[in-house]
Amino acid sequence: MSRTLDLPIVDILLRPQWDGPAGARNQTAAARVVEALRQHGLVLVRPDSAFAASNQVFLQKMGVFFRLPEAVKRKYVIEQAGVSYEVGYMPPHTEHAQADAEYGEFIARIDNEADKPVPHIGSNPIARFMAPIGERASSEEFPELNLPPVTVAEVPGMNASIDDLGHLLHGAGLAVSEYISVGLQRPPKLLRDMLEHPDGPHCLAPTGVNLREEFARKTPGRVSNTDLLNWLRNERYCLDGFHNDVNLITVHARANTPGLHTWSAHGERYDALTIPEGCVLVQSGRQLRHLTGGLIPAMYHEVTTTPGMIPYARDELEAGRDPVRVGCPFFVHVRSDVLMSPIVGDRTTYRPIKAGDFVKEMISTIYGNN
Ligand SMILES: [Fe+2]
Repeated sequence: MSRTLDLPIVDILLRPQWDGPAGARNQTAAARVVEALRQHGLVLVRPDSAFAASNQVFLQKMGVFFRLPEAVKRKYVIEQAGVSYEVGYMPPHTEHAQADAEYGEFIARIDNEADKPVPHIGSNPIARFMAPIGERASSEEFPELNLPPVTVAEVPGMNASIDDLGHLLHGAGLAVSEYISVGLQRPPKLLRDMLEHPDGPHCLAPTGVNLREEFARKTPGRVSNTDLLNWLRNERYCLDGFHNDVNLITVHARANTPGLHTWSAHGERYDALTIPEGCVLVQSGRQLRHLTGGLIPAMYHEVTTTPGMIPYARDELEAGRDPVRVGCPFFVHVRSDVLMSPIVGDRTTYRPIKAGDFVKEMISTIYGNN
């Protein structure tokens, strides 16, 4: 069943105050943030700072990067201490959607066939560029999760644009963590203190998928513009398989074209989300589920082709370029050395675990066998 999610927009301050005249208004906003996260694992927030111009420049720069020849991009693949792709370039068809028992259980509870994810086995077509943002932790225990950023020489201004948008999203993520703490009736800085000074391994991790190349890979020999547009019109094709994120929250800036589909906590699938200008979309991850003892679910999502991509693809094809979908997720992470114990909810199922161990467990499944 095709549904469009009509999320309310919550206005937030990047430097929230919890007392005085603004306090009551922010407390109400905090309750709305938590309510939306509990129900949908998602909330749209509008920070008191302009995002649109930075977002636009970033999409343009990343489009240029993802169109570079594969051999050039692969110069930016970084591997350290057996952990790859935590910074720099991750080629297409590297990540694997995880098919663990928990995912299977969630899918089995979905009654309506049309609400189920696109069947998908194997690797994800999306590529990524991982750009760490924030004051890096000098984590002696988890250095491989806390690497310095990578500079790309071939796209002038790309790194500056990453810093610009990255810092805006970083600020929004930290502020939202305060709204979540307050909405859970806990002290404002309770979650925030786990995220900064020094920062957790926060990362702006834009995704890129060249729709023409993916279409050609799937259907060799058929790559005319008309066939490509018909494919987008007719097939729901998996670009990033059904999963939830390992980190605390993911803060999305606007993508250049729709494609993100999400599930409510009750298994209702929502189609091709778009983010209104001036807003960011906040999505709950596994660290937040753990820290709230299961009260806030880790939101499931996938990225697929959709007819909503056609206007963007047609414009690019007319301009003589391959259409490349660029997504803008920013991963907000708990500092690797923090022992994560639930601040509310079920403390029996969700046992204390260090954030670095929690993340490394997941990484080993994401980059598993082909
Ligand atoms: Fe994700």
